[in-house]
Amino acid sequence: MASHVFMFHRTVSSMLFLVITALVITTSSGRREISELQEVEIQRHLKRINKPAVKSIKSLDGDIFDCVNITNQLAFDHPLLKNHTIQMRPSFIPKDLFRNDKKQSGLISTQLWQRSGKCPENTVPIRRTTRKDLLRWGSIGSYGKKDPNAIRNYGSHPAANFDPTIHEYAIIRGRGGIYNGIEAAINVWKPHVQEWNEFSLAQMWIVGGIDAPDLNSLEAGWQADRYKTGCYNHLCSGFVQTNQGIGIGATFDRVSTYDGEQFKVTLLIMKDPQSGDWWLIVNDVSVGYWPKSILSHLKGSASAVDWGGEILNFKVGGRHTNTDMGSGHFAEEGFKKSCSMDHIFIVDEHHVKRDAENVKVDMDNAKCYNLAHGSNDPNWRTYIYFGGPGQNPGCP
Ligand SMILES: *[C@@H]1O[C@H](CO)[C@@H](O)[C@H](O)[C@H]1NC(C)=O
Ligand SMILES: *[C@@H]1O[C@H](CO)[C@@H](O)[C@H](O)[C@H]1NC(C)=O
Repeated sequence: MASHVFMFHRTVSSMLFLVITALVITTSSGRREISELQEVEIQRHLKRINKPAVKSIKSLDGDIFDCVNITNQLAFDHPLLKNHTIQMRPSFIPKDLFRNDKKQSGLISTQLWQRSGKCPENTVPIRRTTRKDLLRWGSIGSYGKKDPNAIRNYGSHPAANFDPTIHEYAIIRGRGGIYNGIEAAINVWKPHVQEWNEFSLAQMWIVGGIDAPDLNSLEAGWQADRYKTGCYNHLCSGFVQTNQGIGIGATFDRVSTYDGEQFKVTLLIMKDPQSGDWWLIVNDVSVGYWPKSILSHLKGSASAVDWGGEILNFKVGGRHTNTDMGSGHFAEEGFKKSCSMDHIFIVDEHHVKRDAENVKVDMDNAKCYNLAHGSNDPNWRTYIYFGGPGQNPGCP
């Protein structure tokens, strides 16, 4: 099988990733190309999505980051962004807004490729999509089959079979509020992933139109899988990147170790009160935004927010996968052992940051992966620990 070829070349990595769901639903053109895996098609497709580089930077792990002219990025192929004027920064100042109380619960994790170079002014680093990436996605064949009603399954990984029974979650959910943003400091790990087509991720979701067939979901977090898929095809083609230093789909420089040094990344997704665009802020630095104009339900505020872990379980051999969630250790092991998120905030209808309260814990199978939730902690505010090893005597 062709799949073995790529397995051989790739190891598990943890990387920053983003997903926008709106485009998966509204764009149909990307689907057919992937299922017809003709070499000519592949090359044409790569040419279309990999924009010309002003400079290319090869990361130590083999990934190539192309410094693409900011005005020439893939987002601007989107028909609704034809007349779009790039916003270079949000109207709010992320540092001021979120300055106060981030007590260090871990070191900031940076990106591996940054050791190899820098992008010039007015360019943005885009991980180059490779032929292997395309083959991988095409080989799974279920790319266009997402179930519009399977809310949280959206976008988590387009290569996945979107049968909701294979997704397992341990998350907290916020409902019933008016949300203009979400934030968390997310502990970064490199979990074991059993199968080539499984993944493990830690992320936050912000959703508009949760009961609508064309709901919008913006997602950011870290992901580990046996390939590095990066930000691929239409999934990210609506995200306008403005930062020349931070790449989406880039591997983290260092990750946490069990009972050892802890690393984290702070992510904020926040609606700009003036433009209505949704900004992504990484470690207090604005990276880019999802323009309001390509969204339907998120033109206004969001109605649902989630934080936590998700894995794919293909039940190979009739057994539960032993793919780890988080660090691979259950929530009760706590600090430095189980994966955490702390300083979990929402941004309310007045664009004021508040502790995430009134959240509900949702675990698909607590014997496989679980979650513990606390609030009003003097250092960590609202926080969670989550994860687990998957297959074990309680999770056969
Ligand atoms: C980017 O493209 C614009 C418009 O084509 C051009 O004016 C500018 O010089 C380019 N910038 C770089 C860094 O290549
Ligand atoms: C862009 O501008 C042109 C000319 O004003 C207009 O005809 C077109 O509808 C606009 N497209 C979008 C997506 O707004």
